[in-house]
Amino acid sequence: MKAKILLLGMSVLFIAAINLNNLDDYANQPIPPYITKDNAPPFNEITDAGATLGRVLFYDKNLSLNNSIACAGCHKQQFAFSDTARQSVGFNGALTGRHSMRLVNARFGTEIRFFWDERATSLENQSTQPIKDFGEMGFSGTNGQPGIDSLISKLSDISYYPVLFTYAFGSPQITEARIQNALAQFVRSIQSFDSKFDAGLAATGGNLGPPFPNFTPQENQGKNLFLTPPPAGGAGCQGCHRAPEFDIDPASLNNGVIATAANPAILDLTNTRAPSLRDVAGPTGALNGPMMHNGNLTTLAGVIAHYNLVPLNPANTLLDPRLQGPGGNLQLTANEQNALVAFLRTLTGVNVYTDPKLSDPFDAAGNLDLQFCAFTPTITGSAEVCNSAVNTYSVPAGPAGAFYNWSVTGGTILSTPPYSNTIQVQWTNAANASVSIVQFNP
Ligand code: HEC
Ligand code: HEC
Repeated sequence: MKAKILLLGMSVLFIAAINLNNLDDYANQPIPPYITKDNAPPFNEITDAGATLGRVLFYDKNLSLNNSIACAGCHKQQFAFSDTARQSVGFNGALTGRHSMRLVNARFGTEIRFFWDERATSLENQSTQPIKDFGEMGFSGTNGQPGIDSLISKLSDISYYPVLFTYAFGSPQITEARIQNALAQFVRSIQSFDSKFDAGLAATGGNLGPPFPNFTPQENQGKNLFLTPPPAGGAGCQGCHRAPEFDIDPASLNNGVIATAANPAILDLTNTRAPSLRDVAGPTGALNGPMMHNGNLTTLAGVIAHYNLVPLNPANTLLDPRLQGPGGNLQLTANEQNALVAFLRTLTGVNVYTDPKLSDPFDAAGNLDLQFCAFTPTITGSAEVCNSAVNTYSVPAGPAGAFYNWSVTGGTILSTPPYSNTIQVQWTNAANASVSIVQFNP
């Protein structure tokens, strides 16, 4: 009987939460065939090492001036990477001017500009803006705050960053562009395609039109209303929140929600982007936070009521024309409004809320344990062994005092402990056998 023996040679400094020799899969996550929009630029394709660095940066409180808040402080995994607070609290206690946005499926849209008002020209450009924001993370370089150069030298002195940057970009050098690219890769890795809607769309072969077999009649009615333009009796949502990605139409103007969060008397007409409508509610049915840039709408029924009769304020010179006339006075029945709510609830996924590779890699004490290979092992790839064969495996010797934690399944180690960098293994169950080593250097 023959079997493949997988050999893994590595050395580590710590027992680890992130193993750089066995990275999580970010680059090749399955994307349904009906998802076609993608804003990842060719110069910043997702790599496993790049997104892993992005994950660490995203959860690292060192990115704020007083080490009190990470990106994840305002973008929480359990709320689809949004915040249930209407306005989030920045590093120094100040409130954000707008509501935090969900980051789910940020990659899958044609609008390449980000933020509610689309002021960031790309996700890369967006990624360091919170760091450089006076109230959010505090490396603004203004009003007595240090600038991003100060953050870069701070990060250079943290033991795990030179390793992570080397894995991601080939050298330990930290630059703003590298921080941006890594954070954008991580954010683009946050994807959610296991909703009831996805199961229905897969069942129709990617065809949005026909009733979905897994939907209730009410959900199918809501889907029709969402997709159909107002002149044809629908609610016209599809014109701006385009299924199946539910990304925003880049040409959208504002939707009539124009009060600022801090002061309803002050108007803000510039909010023309929404995050994907996917995961607007979480798996329990509770919303992942209040909705719109000002967090003023707290129920889906309230959102539908808003679109059913969009307030016409003469001061709103940037109201989208589609919401003036019939599109702004939909005259939906109560049943139709309920159906739209039921449909929006089918857009919620499961995995994204708990996926470990999107979760906080730091332990409760704020430490990050990192496993990495400090040398090239002599054994790589795989080898064929026969049952009961005796084989010798070795990795290059580490520094004096290094010790070697070999582990074997499907066989017995013939050498006597403590093991050196070389062991003899007798294979007893070659059909299901593997050998691996973790080397601890002093
Ligand atoms: C203090 C809270 C806070 C922190 C910290 C924070 N954000 Fe945000 N984030 C927000 C708010 C609020 C918005 C919406 C701001 C706006 O549009 O003006 C936002 C918007 C975004 C968006 C835009 C999403 C879209 O669809 O347009 C991205 C991406 C994002 N944040 C990523 C990050 C990253 C990466 C970090 C860490 C470097 C971070 N955020 C740190 C509160 C925060
Ligand atoms: C003309 C374009 C347009 C149309 C049509 C439209 N929307 Fe919107 N929608 C927007 C914009 C722009 C925003 C962000 C507005 C803001 O926060 O100021 C938004 C925000 C939302 C939000 C809040 C998202 C969040 O993350 O807080 C929901 C939910 C929503 N729309 C649902 C719908 C539904 C349902 C319909 C159909 C009844 C619809 N929209 C029709 C442009 C549109």
